[in-house]
Amino acid sequence: MEVAELLRKYNIAAPRYTSYPTVPYWDNENFNEAQWKGRLAEAYREHKDEGISLYIHLPFCESLCTYCGCNTRITKNHSVELPYIDALLKEWAMYCALLGERPKIKEIHLGGGTPTFFSAANLKQLLETIAGATHFDKDASCSFEGHPDNTTEAHLQILRDLGFRRLSLGIQDFDPKVQFMINRYQTPTQVHEITKLSRKMGYQSVNFDLIYGLPGQTKEGLVETIIDVIAIRPDRIAFYSYAHVPWIKAGQRHFTERDIPQGDEKFALYQKGREMLVAAGYEEIGMDHFALKTDSLYIASKQNKLHRNFMGYTDQHTHILLGLGVSSISDCDTAFAQNAKTVEEYKHLIQDEQLAVQKGHLLNAEDLQIRKHILRLMCQSNTCFTDDIPEEVVERLQPMVDDRLVAIRSKEVKILPLGRSFLRNVCMAFDNRLWKKQPQTQLFSASI
Ligand SMILES: C[S@@+](CC[C@H](N)C(=O)[O-])C[C@H]1O[C@@H](n2cnc3c(N)ncnc32)[C@H](O)[C@@H]1O
Repeated sequence: MEVAELLRKYNIAAPRYTSYPTVPYWDNENFNEAQWKGRLAEAYREHKDEGISLYIHLPFCESLCTYCGCNTRITKNHSVELPYIDALLKEWAMYCALLGERPKIKEIHLGGGTPTFFSAANLKQLLETIAGATHFDKDASCSFEGHPDNTTEAHLQILRDLGFRRLSLGIQDFDPKVQFMINRYQTPTQVHEITKLSRKMGYQSVNFDLIYGLPGQTKEGLVETIIDVIAIRPDRIAFYSYAHVPWIKAGQRHFTERDIPQGDEKFALYQKGREMLVAAGYEEIGMDHFALKTDSLYIASKQNKLHRNFMGYTDQHTHILLGLGVSSISDCDTAFAQNAKTVEEYKHLIQDEQLAVQKGHLLNAEDLQIRKHILRLMCQSNTCFTDDIPEEVVERLQPMVDDRLVAIRSKEVKILPLGRSFLRNVCMAFDNRLWKKQPQTQLFSASI
């Protein structure tokens, strides 16, 4: 079947599977905070020696990037920084009390919003209190997202001194026409300077976020962007498919569907970008990711150690991920919990000495099995069953087997090269909760 035909057939609303079950399918009615605390404490007793992953959500941005699908709060008023840090530290203290100690941190990521909205001094205060006197372990993977427009030398230096070795810059696209449409501006020169400086300071991995399918994006413009990116040579690149969810993110109504490349046109952007990155020495990893062969993400993928959690792909595998801050999601392996989604609600709950958890899910035995298979497909492009593959999964995969996207051999399901671009569709075949209750309204962005 022609690629264009495959696209017409498989370009449907599909989750990105940073978790299973996906958030809209969490069984919140059978979840409460006491159960979350119980499951977390139990998991911690079992896995404390390996350490935890910590995600800190810093939601503030000075201006709205209209494409953005993340939880953000737009303000130019920097007096919001300290009260928010205060709430984060109270939340951290509550978790430490629950676990009976300050857990060892194996991985920490500052995401947003724009972490570099916060002054370097305030980030230092936050992180020093979290890490405690021993600071971060020298083997811990510490990373942060920076906006090229406001990441300063002081940010880079202070975070480097605290043990951060990985930096992720949100680029999206260098084409001025696209930047105007998405209200997000940064030049290749600016980005090059920050990258050079961070390397000089000892950062070991620099990631760029790029997106295909943005409003006003053309093949010619994207080619120019990728030429600039390759010249700067980041270690990793996340090349995301633009998720258009205007029913959730009103900012995306600043442009119309007519401005967005869709279907074949969008896929051609991905193919062109992929072709250029691969020709420049980048290896494709999992879904949406590329890395140089020297980067730890590539090495982990070769050693079958790639992992995926709510933060995306990682080379660290922990059983516990704690998410601090507004809208953050935590995962203790057998349960998920998400914090309140507005800054006010979050701060209010924390001031009240409660965890800010507002919804969650307790995974049952079937969820755990399905999650394992989806994770393997996402990280290593195949999965294997100990018993026979459930009949309903085989049935759902059959059209993809016929179209040579996947192969089923005895108890193994394997993604074929053509199927890589349809990974979300393959995972959907395993998603029993989605099949049991088809959504009445659109929940997810398009799979391609
Ligand atoms: C929360 S953003 C952080 C960006 C970074 N703090 C900055 O401002 O430079 C994380 C990444 O998610 C991706 N992202 C955000 N909205 C998206 C959307 N609607 N579709 C696809 N990717 C998106 C972008 O590539 C973005 O860099």
